Amino acid sequence: MTGSNKFRLGVLGSGKGSNFAAIADACAAGQVPAEVALVLSDVADAGILQQARDRKLPAEFLAPGKFRTKLDEEAERVCIARLQAAEVDLVVLAGFMRILKGDFLRAFPQRVVNIHPSLLPAFPGLEAWRQALDYGVKVTGCTVHFVDQGIDSGAIIAQETVPVLDGDTAESLHGRIQLAERRLYPAAMAALARGQVLVRGRQTVRVA
Ligand code: GRF
Repeated sequence: MTGSNKFRLGVLGSGKGSNFAAIADACAAGQVPAEVALVLSDVADAGILQQARDRKLPAEFLAPGKFRTKLDEEAERVCIARLQAAEVDLVVLAGFMRILKGDFLRAFPQRVVNIHPSLLPAFPGLEAWRQALDYGVKVTGCTVHFVDQGIDSGAIIAQETVPVLDGDTAESLHGRIQLAERRLYPAAMAALARGQVLVRGRQTVRVA
Protein backbone atom coordinates (compact mmCIF):
# COMPACT_ATOMS: atom_id res chain seq x y z
CA MET A 1 0.00 0.00 0.00
CA THR A 2 1.22 3.46 -0.82
CA GLY A 3 -1.02 5.28 1.62
CA SER A 4 -1.84 7.76 -1.13
CA ASN A 5 -5.17 7.96 -2.91
CA LYS A 6 -3.91 10.18 -5.72
CA PHE A 7 -3.92 8.92 -9.30
CA ARG A 8 -0.46 7.45 -9.81
CA LEU A 9 1.62 7.85 -12.96
CA GLY A 10 4.41 5.52 -14.08
CA VAL A 11 6.48 7.27 -16.74
CA LEU A 12 8.74 5.57 -19.30
CA GLY A 13 11.15 7.65 -21.37
CA SER A 14 14.42 7.39 -23.27
CA GLY A 15 15.25 11.03 -23.98
CA LYS A 16 15.57 14.46 -22.50
CA GLY A 17 12.23 14.38 -20.72
CA SER A 18 10.62 17.68 -21.64
CA ASN A 19 7.16 16.10 -21.74
CA PHE A 20 7.79 14.38 -18.43
CA ALA A 21 8.93 17.69 -16.89
CA ALA A 22 5.76 19.43 -18.09
CA ILE A 23 3.59 16.68 -16.58
CA ALA A 24 5.52 16.53 -13.30
CA ASP A 25 5.38 20.31 -12.91
CA ALA A 26 1.66 20.39 -13.69
CA CYS A 27 1.11 17.69 -11.03
CA ALA A 28 3.20 19.63 -8.50
CA ALA A 29 1.26 22.82 -9.29
CA GLY A 30 -2.06 21.07 -8.72
CA GLN A 31 -3.15 21.43 -12.37
CA VAL A 32 -3.15 17.65 -12.79
CA PRO A 33 -4.69 15.69 -9.90
CA ALA A 34 -2.02 13.00 -10.01
CA GLU A 35 1.45 12.20 -8.76
CA VAL A 36 4.49 10.70 -10.43
CA ALA A 37 5.01 7.34 -8.72
CA LEU A 38 7.99 6.14 -10.77
CA VAL A 39 10.13 7.10 -13.76
CA LEU A 40 11.91 4.33 -15.68
CA SER A 41 14.36 4.77 -18.53
CA ASP A 42 16.10 2.27 -20.78
CA VAL A 43 18.94 4.80 -21.21
CA ALA A 44 21.20 5.07 -18.15
CA ASP A 45 22.14 8.72 -18.70
CA ALA A 46 18.82 9.93 -20.12
CA GLY A 47 17.79 13.48 -19.28
CA ILE A 48 14.43 12.21 -18.08
CA LEU A 49 16.09 10.43 -15.12
CA GLN A 50 17.91 13.63 -14.17
CA GLN A 51 14.71 15.66 -14.55
CA ALA A 52 13.03 13.23 -12.13
CA ARG A 53 15.89 13.28 -9.64
CA ASP A 54 15.98 17.09 -9.74
CA ARG A 55 12.34 16.96 -8.63
CA LYS A 56 13.05 14.33 -5.94
CA LEU A 57 10.90 11.79 -7.77
CA PRO A 58 11.73 8.05 -7.89
CA ALA A 59 13.77 7.31 -11.02
CA GLU A 60 15.43 4.10 -12.13
CA PHE A 61 17.43 2.81 -15.07
CA LEU A 62 15.87 -0.30 -16.58
CA ALA A 63 18.45 -2.47 -18.40
CA PRO A 64 16.67 -3.14 -21.71
CA GLY A 65 18.41 -6.41 -22.62
CA LYS A 66 19.56 -7.68 -25.95
CA PHE A 67 17.20 -6.02 -28.46
CA ARG A 68 17.38 -2.53 -29.97
CA THR A 69 13.71 -1.73 -30.55
CA LYS A 70 11.98 -3.55 -27.69
CA LEU A 71 12.65 -4.75 -24.16
CA ASP A 72 13.74 -8.36 -23.90
CA GLU A 73 11.60 -10.80 -21.93
CA GLU A 74 13.41 -10.31 -18.63
CA ALA A 75 13.48 -6.51 -18.96
CA GLU A 76 9.77 -6.46 -19.75
CA ARG A 77 9.06 -8.65 -16.73
CA VAL A 78 11.07 -6.30 -14.49
CA CYS A 79 9.39 -3.24 -16.02
CA ILE A 80 5.91 -4.63 -15.34
CA ALA A 81 6.89 -5.66 -11.81
CA ARG A 82 8.36 -2.23 -10.96
CA LEU A 83 5.27 -0.41 -12.26
CA GLN A 84 2.93 -2.77 -10.41
CA ALA A 85 4.94 -2.44 -7.19
CA ALA A 86 4.62 1.34 -7.55
CA GLU A 87 0.85 0.84 -7.86
CA VAL A 88 0.57 2.97 -10.97
CA ASP A 89 -2.88 3.77 -12.35
CA LEU A 90 -1.56 4.88 -15.74
CA VAL A 91 1.61 4.18 -17.72
CA VAL A 92 2.74 7.33 -19.50
CA LEU A 93 5.12 6.99 -22.44
CA ALA A 94 7.14 10.17 -22.80
CA GLY A 95 9.64 9.66 -25.59
CA PHE A 96 10.09 5.94 -24.85
CA MET A 97 11.88 4.54 -27.88
CA ARG A 98 10.96 0.88 -27.54
CA ILE A 99 7.83 -0.87 -28.73
CA LEU A 100 5.61 -2.33 -26.02
CA LYS A 101 3.25 -5.15 -26.94
CA GLY A 102 1.54 -8.34 -25.74
CA ASP A 103 2.36 -9.09 -22.12
CA PHE A 104 3.01 -5.46 -21.23
CA LEU A 105 -0.28 -4.18 -22.63
CA ARG A 106 -2.17 -7.09 -21.05
CA ALA A 107 -0.68 -6.11 -17.67
CA PHE A 108 -2.05 -2.56 -18.05
CA PRO A 109 -5.19 -2.86 -20.20
CA GLN A 110 -6.22 0.52 -21.63
CA ARG A 111 -3.88 2.12 -19.16
CA VAL A 112 -0.90 2.98 -21.39
CA VAL A 113 -0.80 6.34 -23.18
CA ASN A 114 1.66 7.99 -25.54
CA ILE A 115 2.25 11.35 -27.20
CA HIS A 116 3.13 11.40 -30.88
CA PRO A 117 4.42 14.46 -32.79
CA SER A 118 1.86 14.47 -35.62
CA LEU A 119 -1.88 14.52 -36.16
CA LEU A 120 -2.45 10.76 -36.25
CA PRO A 121 -3.27 8.75 -38.28
CA ALA A 122 -0.96 10.86 -40.48
CA PHE A 123 2.75 10.20 -40.13
CA PRO A 124 3.08 7.38 -37.58
CA GLY A 125 6.58 6.16 -36.74
CA LEU A 126 9.87 8.00 -36.39
CA GLU A 127 10.55 11.72 -36.97
CA ALA A 128 6.91 12.51 -37.72
CA TRP A 129 7.65 16.25 -37.96
CA ARG A 130 10.16 15.56 -40.76
CA GLN A 131 7.65 13.30 -42.52
CA ALA A 132 5.08 16.13 -42.35
CA LEU A 133 7.54 18.71 -43.69
CA ASP A 134 8.71 16.42 -46.52
CA TYR A 135 5.09 15.62 -47.46
CA GLY A 136 4.23 19.31 -47.67
CA VAL A 137 1.25 19.50 -45.32
CA LYS A 138 0.30 22.97 -44.09
CA VAL A 139 -0.97 21.81 -40.69
CA THR A 140 0.43 19.15 -38.40
CA GLY A 141 0.42 18.84 -34.61
CA CYS A 142 0.54 16.29 -31.83
CA THR A 143 -1.67 13.48 -30.58
CA VAL A 144 -2.17 11.84 -27.18
CA HIS A 145 -3.44 8.30 -27.66
CA PHE A 146 -3.88 4.99 -25.93
CA VAL A 147 -1.26 2.43 -26.87
CA ASP A 148 -2.42 -0.73 -28.59
CA GLN A 149 -0.62 -3.53 -30.43
CA GLY A 150 0.06 -1.39 -33.51
CA ILE A 151 2.46 1.51 -34.12
CA ASP A 152 0.86 4.81 -33.02
CA SER A 153 -2.56 3.30 -33.78
CA GLY A 154 -4.53 3.32 -30.52
CA ALA A 155 -7.67 5.33 -29.74
CA ILE A 156 -7.06 9.08 -29.85
CA ILE A 157 -7.54 11.04 -26.61
CA ALA A 158 -6.54 14.58 -27.63
CA GLN A 159 -4.93 16.49 -30.47
CA GLU A 160 -3.51 19.98 -30.98
CA THR A 161 -2.81 21.48 -34.38
CA VAL A 162 0.42 23.26 -35.29
CA PRO A 163 0.87 25.25 -38.52
CA VAL A 164 3.71 24.46 -40.90
CA LEU A 165 5.20 27.83 -41.82
CA ASP A 166 7.00 28.84 -45.00
CA GLY A 167 10.69 28.46 -44.36
CA ASP A 168 10.26 25.92 -41.58
CA THR A 169 13.12 23.49 -41.07
CA ALA A 170 12.70 20.10 -39.43
CA GLU A 171 14.13 21.66 -36.28
CA SER A 172 11.89 24.74 -36.19
CA LEU A 173 8.77 22.67 -36.85
CA HIS A 174 9.77 20.09 -34.25
CA GLY A 175 10.32 22.86 -31.71
CA ARG A 176 6.85 24.31 -32.35
CA ILE A 177 5.28 20.86 -32.02
CA GLN A 178 7.11 20.26 -28.74
CA LEU A 179 5.66 23.47 -27.30
CA ALA A 180 2.19 22.13 -28.17
CA GLU A 181 3.05 18.75 -26.63
CA ARG A 182 3.91 20.41 -23.33
CA ARG A 183 0.40 21.89 -23.23
CA LEU A 184 -1.52 18.92 -24.59
CA TYR A 185 -0.03 16.06 -22.56
CA PRO A 186 -0.62 17.60 -19.09
CA ALA A 187 -4.16 18.64 -20.11
CA ALA A 188 -4.93 15.11 -21.32
CA MET A 189 -3.41 13.69 -18.15
CA ALA A 190 -5.69 15.85 -16.02
CA ALA A 191 -8.75 14.51 -17.88
CA LEU A 192 -7.50 10.94 -17.50
CA ALA A 193 -6.77 11.40 -13.79
CA ARG A 194 -10.26 12.80 -13.26
CA GLY A 195 -11.77 9.76 -15.01
CA GLN A 196 -13.21 12.01 -17.72
CA VAL A 197 -12.00 9.93 -20.66
CA LEU A 198 -14.20 7.00 -21.68
CA VAL A 199 -13.21 4.58 -24.43
CA ARG A 200 -15.87 3.42 -26.90
CA GLY A 201 -14.09 1.18 -29.39
CA ARG A 202 -11.93 3.45 -31.55
CA GLN A 203 -13.49 6.58 -30.11
CA THR A 204 -12.90 8.28 -26.81
CA VAL A 205 -15.44 10.61 -25.27
CA ARG A 206 -15.05 13.23 -22.56
CA VAL A 207 -17.47 13.29 -19.66
CA ALA A 208 -17.76 16.20 -17.25
C1 GRF B 1 8.52 14.00 -27.98
O1 GRF B 1 8.72 14.99 -28.92
C2 GRF B 1 7.38 13.07 -28.36
O2 GRF B 1 6.64 13.55 -29.42
C3 GRF B 1 8.02 11.79 -28.77
O3 GRF B 1 9.26 11.76 -28.16
C4 GRF B 1 9.69 13.07 -27.84
C5 GRF B 1 10.23 13.03 -26.45
O4 GRF B 1 10.83 14.21 -26.05
N1 GRF B 1 7.13 10.68 -28.47
P1 GRF B 1 11.07 14.48 -24.52
O5 GRF B 1 11.99 13.37 -24.01
O6 GRF B 1 9.74 14.46 -23.82
O7 GRF B 1 11.75 15.81 -24.45
